[in-house]
Parts: sequence; structure tokens; C-alpha cells
Amino acid sequence: MASRLAVPVLPGRLSGMRGELRDEHGRVMRDLRVSITDRCNFRCVYCLPETEEAANFYRTRFDALRNPRPAKSIPLNYEWKPKHEILRFEEIERVVRVAVSLGIQKVRVTGGEPLLRRDVAQLIAALARIPGVEDLAMTTNGFLFGEKAEALRTAGLRRVSISLDSLDRGRFQTMTGRDGLPAALAAIEQAQRLGFAPVKVNAVIIGGMNDHEIEALAEFARDRRLSLRFIEFMPLDSNRAWQRDLVVSGRTILERLRARFELVPVAGHPTETARRWAFADGSGEIGIIAPVTEPFCGHCNRLRLTADGKIRTCLFSLEEHDLRPWLREESSDEALAERLIEIVTHKEAGHRIGQPDFVQPARTMSCIGG
Ligand code: 5AD
Ligand code: SF4
Repeated sequence: MASRLAVPVLPGRLSGMRGELRDEHGRVMRDLRVSITDRCNFRCVYCLPETEEAANFYRTRFDALRNPRPAKSIPLNYEWKPKHEILRFEEIERVVRVAVSLGIQKVRVTGGEPLLRRDVAQLIAALARIPGVEDLAMTTNGFLFGEKAEALRTAGLRRVSISLDSLDRGRFQTMTGRDGLPAALAAIEQAQRLGFAPVKVNAVIIGGMNDHEIEALAEFARDRRLSLRFIEFMPLDSNRAWQRDLVVSGRTILERLRARFELVPVAGHPTETARRWAFADGSGEIGIIAPVTEPFCGHCNRLRLTADGKIRTCLFSLEEHDLRPWLREESSDEALAERLIEIVTHKEAGHRIGQPDFVQPARTMSCIGG
């Protein structure tokens, strides 16, 4: 989530600039995350657990890791959005073009798993051609990266984040529901070989599940010259199993890392979500993203477009704003721009995790886009 680019855009710098996406709290939106499908080929316990047992992992977490039992519990079936509700590539491109004309500079394509969308490289090529898109990135679980990586690179994708919660094959499978560690490792290697830069790796840390791997993951980042992000477990799982005591705080992660490595702070931009550290004696970088224990809402410059065409002004929004009427019925780009400006005005001040009135949103990360 490096945000070298969040310099204020002067009105008129972009041709056809219609105004800015500024909210009531004075924050100006620069970063648009676009979920292009709500489907996924993984079943991460913190997002779309495959079975009741996986969803309730926290009840049996120590026991399940010590003696993994065959999944006897009931499969959870997800209802994906019907195809006609999912935005077509031209519709996504139009939203991005209009958002960029309003000052968006960074675009991240996500899912669900974005590589499940057929011809995804064509969408990337179209987005890369939009003048004003200064940074185009993708978040993927890496499983299908091997077959699509070259086309994506050729299409103009520059940066990629790949999920890697564990370096242990069995635990990776427990956490993601798939035997996907070899593919994730291959994807990371291939991304580096193809010159994606930086190659980022995301690890969601859950107490009792993979927190003992914090040091090993950091070492992996140092050895492979990767940019690793440790992410606090957020209440965005489909089964609402999230519990505060499963969150390993950013502070704990940092203390553990500092006990093992000599870390040097990396200066970042205030809108960055990660606090970043370099290794004094090596390459690679780690970042700690602590939305639960150290919210960064005050600097948030992000906006999200769901696969079915809704704008979410916060990961934890309880309300969504449907753009489809603007996209599917006769409407000008100006009208769409006005709609976006109006939606952003009311962006919430921040999430309320930990407050008595916190309500977990109905949709998971797989719909919202990370
Ligand atoms: N808490 C923290 N991170 C999450 N992700 C998905 N769900 C959660 C959650 N509940 C992460 C994924 C991926 C990124 C898009 O978001 O692991 O790396
Ligand atoms: Fe896991 Fe991402 Fe798929 Fe959710 S969308 S199940 S976090 S790979």
C-alpha cells in the first residue's frame, strides 16, 4: 500500500478534471480498489470458510492444529452474485476513468480472486491505458498466477500483492482451505522474475493459528527481498467468528520482530496503512497493518467498488451506494461523476471496531475487495 503518489493534484492538472472526491472531513480520495468478482477458489478461515468447522476454528483452534480431523462438518455454500449483476469490463473501465478524472491516482484490482475472471489481462490493459492511472496493482491468492502472469505484465500491470499466511503446507491448507502453498511460492518467484516491483506478500496473523510463524515469515521476506505485510485479523469473515482475542496486535508483532531482527523505520506517506521497516542487515521490507488496534481512518484516502457495482466508502460500511443505475441506464459521465462526488462527501469518519455499537458488515472481504 505504498503511497508515494498521494501528492495533491492541482485542479486542472488532469485534463477534463471535474472536481475532487473530498469528504466532509477534508480527506481527498486517491486510491480506488476494484473488486472484479465475488468468487474465490480459496476458502480462507478469515474470509470464506469452507465448513462450519473451519468457520468455528477459534473454538477448537489448538486441538484442531494438534490433531487435524477429517472435515466432518457441514459445508458452507456461498451464493455468488448472478452474472448479470456483475459489472462488465467496459463498466468497470468507465467508473475508473471517471474516478481518475476526479483525482484517483492509484487503482488496485482485487476480488474475490481476480484471476478467476476470464480475460482479466484485457481489463488490465484497458485500465493501464487510462491517462492519470499512476499506479496499477492487483491483489491475488496466486493460485492461477502462473498461467496469467505474463499476459498481465504485458498488459501493463506493475505491482502485485500475493497472500501467504503460512510457510507450512498443512497450516496453509488449514487457513486457506486449499493445498496452495506450492502455487503461492511459485507465484511469488515468478512475479519477481517478471519484474513486478515491488512484489508484496500479505500475511493475516491469527492468534493460535499462525502467530508462531511471524519470525519465519519475516526471514522469508528478507531472504527473498520481498515486501511483507503483516495484517491484523479484521471482523470481515463470512461466519462472524471474529473475536478480539484472536487479533495479534501490530504492536506485539513488532515487538517480536524487533527481538529477532534489527529494524530501521522506512519513512512513508501519512496515507499509507502500513508502518514500514527495513532490515538493517539485509534487503526486503516488512510492514505492519493494524486497522483494529491502531486505526488509520483519519488519513484514509480509499474508496471501494464491489464486483456488483456498489461503492463502499469504508471496509466496514453498513451502507453501499449502487452505481449500476448510472452505468446501465442512459447517463452521462458528468452525472456519474456527480454521483461519486456526492457519495464521497458522506464517507464515514472511521470504523467502530471495539465500540459498543460496532456492527460487522454483512459482506466479507471477498465481496468488498481488500
Ligand atoms: N482480516 C484481515 N485481512 C483479511 N483479508 C481478507 N479477509 C481478512 C480479514 N478478515 C486479506 C487477505 C488478502 C487481502 C486482500 O485481505 O488475506 O491478503
Ligand atoms: Fe482468501 Fe482472498 Fe479468497 Fe477471501 S477472497 S477466501 S481472503 S483468497
